[in-house]
Amino acid sequence: MTQQLSPNWWREAIIYQVYPRSFNDTNGDGVGDLPGITAKLDYIAQLGVDIVWISPFFKSPMKDFGYDISDYCDVDPLFGTLADFDAMIAKAHSLGLKIMIDQVMSHTSEQHAWFAESRKSRDNPKADWYVWADAAPDGNPPNNWMSVFGGSSWQWDTRRRQYYLHNFLVSQPDLNFHNPEVQQAHLDCLRFWLERGVDGVRMDACNFHFHDRQLRSNPPALVRDTATVSDVNPYGMQAHIHDKTQPENVAFLQRIRKLLDEYGAVAIGEVGADDSLAVMAEYTEGGDKLHMAYSFNLLTPQCSARHIRTQVEQFGARVKDGWASWSVGNHDAVRVMTRWGGDQPDPEFAKLVLAMQLSLKGTPCLYQGDELAFTESDVPFELLQDPYGITFWPEFKGRDGCRTPIAWEAATNGGFTEGKPWLPVDEKHIARAASVQERDPQSPLAFARRFIAWRRTMPQLTRGDITFFDAPEPVLALRRDAEGERSVLAVFNLGRDATTLPLPQAAGAQTITDPGLPGSVAADGTVTLPPYGAWFGYVK
Ligand code: GLC
Ligand code: CA
Repeated sequence: MTQQLSPNWWREAIIYQVYPRSFNDTNGDGVGDLPGITAKLDYIAQLGVDIVWISPFFKSPMKDFGYDISDYCDVDPLFGTLADFDAMIAKAHSLGLKIMIDQVMSHTSEQHAWFAESRKSRDNPKADWYVWADAAPDGNPPNNWMSVFGGSSWQWDTRRRQYYLHNFLVSQPDLNFHNPEVQQAHLDCLRFWLERGVDGVRMDACNFHFHDRQLRSNPPALVRDTATVSDVNPYGMQAHIHDKTQPENVAFLQRIRKLLDEYGAVAIGEVGADDSLAVMAEYTEGGDKLHMAYSFNLLTPQCSARHIRTQVEQFGARVKDGWASWSVGNHDAVRVMTRWGGDQPDPEFAKLVLAMQLSLKGTPCLYQGDELAFTESDVPFELLQDPYGITFWPEFKGRDGCRTPIAWEAATNGGFTEGKPWLPVDEKHIARAASVQERDPQSPLAFARRFIAWRRTMPQLTRGDITFFDAPEPVLALRRDAEGERSVLAVFNLGRDATTLPLPQAAGAQTITDPGLPGSVAADGTVTLPPYGAWFGYVK
């Protein structure tokens, strides 16, 4: 692209995540595809976002729906062809959108040629490309490490008569990053996509690359991690000091950054760690590793002003010059409307959440359908696809409920497909289909477009410092300050009851009407907010 961008343009950007299976199907097989994304790029551009992160569309047996890759340098036929990819990126660039691909480096599919070779014998050229270990003297796995998706993270392989490591599914063997050839192979695959014009990468599970070479067992957790995994998952009971987040990863991320810098591309890392905020800070510090990182900390059920404030403040306390991305919804979490809004959430809540997320300091990452106020879908056990959900059902139903296809029209299957969708299209979503909301200026979609357009004009919100104020739950109150600009106050009512509160900092403030939010302020600084209301003002 010819457009001149400031070196930190990505800090002022908004990321929009497309989960390709569920976005738009053009050939009637019930699964979304790359031509389907291309056809909807106008919709994404109209939303006003900058970067489109597309979940994996590479060759895969789809055991983890694309997060199990069998060829990093090709498109899975289910999603299309490399030519479809080229057409998609060309159209995106013509609309001023950047394309970010998903790099799942930590593990491959068991069907990857690298693993097929590695598992053959203990002395083939790729014998050391994965994490292999002999059984303990009693035949058990070599240590107590666990899979995020349930059970031991070690799987016995009869060919080598050894165990191999898998942090996720048994069919996702873990690559051995201590082997420099593995690192180089990934850098080569990434270069393949950079040459094809991609503008950025999302680094999947990027603190899982390395493991402790001595294979030491993890101790029990002092504080159980219920952010990265559900509280019915024993994975959270270990302190993950040996199976992930190893110090060697930093040098690898620096190699990734060097390569990205050759192309002016950016990286966002996914971090699920015992102290995710510290790892996000570490990995984004110094301008020589990842540009930004997100965690699961705002993907939990906790919807209190205190919780949100704490995450942002604690990140701020740990970070020097690194950068966060705040994500409140994605393909791994219950849709935010339901997770935070409860049963039958009011569509107004979607507007509030969006305004709040886009007012935090950090690059926001939006999930497809959240702009349409879609709720979590109730997928019955018989129709569940996600192996994670099938294992932990019924207490944890997995990730299918946030992955049901987008309803574009008020039509059969929401106009997502001419065929049978891989997951049912939610009737509740069809009533709120994108085309219906296009016609309604009060809709969540119309609000999202307006708010995003306004945010672009507000350097305070995109690059300003952030300060929180004490306010009674469920109110979140903050100030954003950018050099040479008037300070902006923002107050959000996360609750379903109207509220009035004194906010001394707001005395004499001037209401900002552009975002079209329903809150108001009195001369003495008393802020009045309707249910799920918000108010923005310039400090006097
Ligand atoms: C990441 C992805 C998730 C996937 C897992 C294993 O957490 O977001 O969807 O299942 O990594 O690759
Ligand atoms: Ca298709």
